[in-house]
Amino acid sequence: MANLRSREETINERDVFSKVTIVYMSPNGCTKKCAELIAERLKGEGEVLLIDLARIDPSELESIISETTLLGVGSPTYHLNMLDPVKIFLEGIPNIPINKGRGRYSFCFTTYGHVNSGKTLINMAKILHKKHYTVLGALKLRAKHFYQHSIEFPSSEDQNLILKFCETVKYRITNPIEWRELSKMLNYQYLKVQVIYPFIRLFGSNFRVPKLNFNKDLCTSCGLCEENCPTRVIIVSDLPKKQKGCIYCFNCVMVCPTGAIYSDLDKIKRVLKFNAKVLHEESIREII
Ligand SMILES: Cc1cc2nc3c(=O)[nH]c(=O)nc-3n(C[C@H](O)[C@H](O)[C@H](O)COP(=O)(O)O)c2cc1C
Ligand code: SF4
Ligand code: SF4
Repeated sequence: MANLRSREETINERDVFSKVTIVYMSPNGCTKKCAELIAERLKGEGEVLLIDLARIDPSELESIISETTLLGVGSPTYHLNMLDPVKIFLEGIPNIPINKGRGRYSFCFTTYGHVNSGKTLINMAKILHKKHYTVLGALKLRAKHFYQHSIEFPSSEDQNLILKFCETVKYRITNPIEWRELSKMLNYQYLKVQVIYPFIRLFGSNFRVPKLNFNKDLCTSCGLCEENCPTRVIIVSDLPKKQKGCIYCFNCVMVCPTGAIYSDLDKIKRVLKFNAKVLHEESIREII
């Protein structure tokens, strides 16, 4: 009987790993590194496709996702939540009815700076659950801010935890956690964060993040800002123009070789430092 059960479990696992897709957004590369390490580990189990939301035509996504058996979703934490393009992606997943949706598995992960991972994971998992995915687990890793070049990410501890997370995902295919229990575990934030969160959602990027400025006299139309913009809102035809949808990742400011795009980066550093003091998070890396 025990043998029979383990054979069934092996077949089931193989089915779940038959088409793994990991979708992520990563303006500064930490979430991408995490996605790549998960993909590397899961490749031993089946076919794995990595999708950077900044580089894919959204019209191609629907058919890929409909064939996916195990969906991983990764986002950095911005203003205590997932990035808007990740939320738009998740909300755009077709809502397959429960009986047909059975057999759709998922997991999510976030990297965050030295502030707080906020409600990113619970918010991602809630949407996946609403779309009838079984959520197998989640991973949070403290990474670094875009200006913290000297911090190494992922560290060896991070890499070990990523490997352990993949094992957990595998284990939970045959031993899933009930949604009620998992959602409670994902709602790990302490009271202060829960209270502050709605205000940050309301006002987050509007008054806390410095604006982007542009000096056309310094621009050489090199195109680097357009190439490195994860939401593709900068178009350099003659002179760079910013359209709606900027997530204020400051990639364009960091890559512009002439300083034609500039911002008060000291202000964002000050805000993030202050937030880190107020919203200190005890457990910096964790599998949930
Ligand atoms: C505008 C902005 C808001 C951010 N908000 C948070 C936050 O609320 N909590 C946090 O810990 N880190 C915050 N960060 C830091 C990012 O979460 C961190 O740098 C993350 O690892 C970036 O992922 P990436 O390298 O994949 O882009 C913020 C960064 C920016 C630019
Ligand atoms: S990176 Fe700077 S110099 Fe190059 S096109 Fe953009 S704004 Fe102009
Ligand atoms: S315009 Fe600049 S700050 Fe805004 S999303 Fe693009 S790269 Fe990031």
